Amino acid sequence: MGQIPDMMRAIIAEGSGGPEVLKVVQRPVPRPGDGEILVRVKAAGVNRPDVIQRQGGYPPPPGAPDILGLEIAGEVVAAGPSAGRFSVGQPVMALVPGGGYADYAVVHESNALPVPPGLSNEEAGAIPETYFTVWTNVFDRGHLQAGETFLVHGGTSGIGTTAIQLAKAFGATVIATAGSQEKCDACLRLGADVAINYRTQDFVAAVKEATGGRGADLILDMVGGDYIPRNYEAAAQDGRIVQIAFLQSPKVEVDFRRLMVKRLTHTGSTLRPRSPAEKAVIARALEDKVWPLLAQGRCRPVMDSTFAFEDVAKAHARMDGGEHIGKIVLSL
Ligand SMILES: NC(=O)c1ccc[n+]([C@@H]2O[C@H](COP(=O)([O-])OP(=O)(O)OC[C@H]3O[C@@H](n4cnc5c(N)ncnc54)[C@H](OP(=O)(O)O)[C@@H]3O)[C@@H](O)[C@H]2O)c1
Repeated sequence: MGQIPDMMRAIIAEGSGGPEVLKVVQRPVPRPGDGEILVRVKAAGVNRPDVIQRQGGYPPPPGAPDILGLEIAGEVVAAGPSAGRFSVGQPVMALVPGGGYADYAVVHESNALPVPPGLSNEEAGAIPETYFTVWTNVFDRGHLQAGETFLVHGGTSGIGTTAIQLAKAFGATVIATAGSQEKCDACLRLGADVAINYRTQDFVAAVKEATGGRGADLILDMVGGDYIPRNYEAAAQDGRIVQIAFLQSPKVEVDFRRLMVKRLTHTGSTLRPRSPAEKAVIARALEDKVWPLLAQGRCRPVMDSTFAFEDVAKAHARMDGGEHIGKIVLSL
């Protein structure tokens, strides 16, 4: 493997707590196994699940490295046995189950995707986690159809900015919630038809008003807590609700009669523990349906800020502060 070094920089959380627990350490460069590629990482996206892992609330699944980071962009530098899709030197982006905050990362080649033309390393590194998550939850599980009304909470999150753009690109009417006027304006600039400042407006009443009393056909929720009964109120008859996180609380008292009477479907999913084969199915759908949109510039990651690798604590502090709009990325 030529000039590939034996050791590399990697970021781990030493214990759990604030951004100060993040440490740059030396680790062996991983070797690609069967079907895997080794990527020289040039950018690694920072995601809320990394923050929750740092805080001790989201341990890596069995077999995943303790190095943080769920998405990367970079250059293929080696391929393991039976890996033949990408050539050495090719730019790729990939979803990884951990290990993204490092100079090198291994990934099954089926979980990597080519980088569409015109995207920087930082933009490419900001794509996989939210695009995989939005595709599998909004389109696979949520069955969003053109002409439907889609409500997304956390409209300016990494997930939210992706969901707004993709839902619009596939012909939905989009309503987004966010916690400030500035964030609402950003949602509208991204194409949302309606943006609701949940601090000054009741989102249930605002959704009803925006839909002529009908409600939203599909709701993507990361908040939980009292949003669960309120989502049941905001949903249309036969509406679907997809739960991807519980930033407020996973426990709440709910009157389920609303779910029954409105014939609602409430589902949810996590991405990280899924097998490479399951993630590969999502990757192929993205490549088929969404990569042409990226190539045409019809959707693009919304970049909040880029930090140098060694400034990872500053990157996490930015996410902890909650003022970001779109994606935070580490540049290597
Ligand atoms: N299930 C899955 O497969 C999966 C995969 C990836 C991510 N996720 C989850 O999706 C969520 C978004 O991830 P991300 O990386 O896009 O995060 P992010 O950019 O940090 O976004 C979090 C958003 O949630 C809003 N929010 C509402 N209530 C909040 C609260 N109590 N605490 C903190 N934020 C709150 C914030 O906006 P306002 O200021 O407008 O409130 C913010 O925009 C995270 O909860 C993450 O764990 C789930």
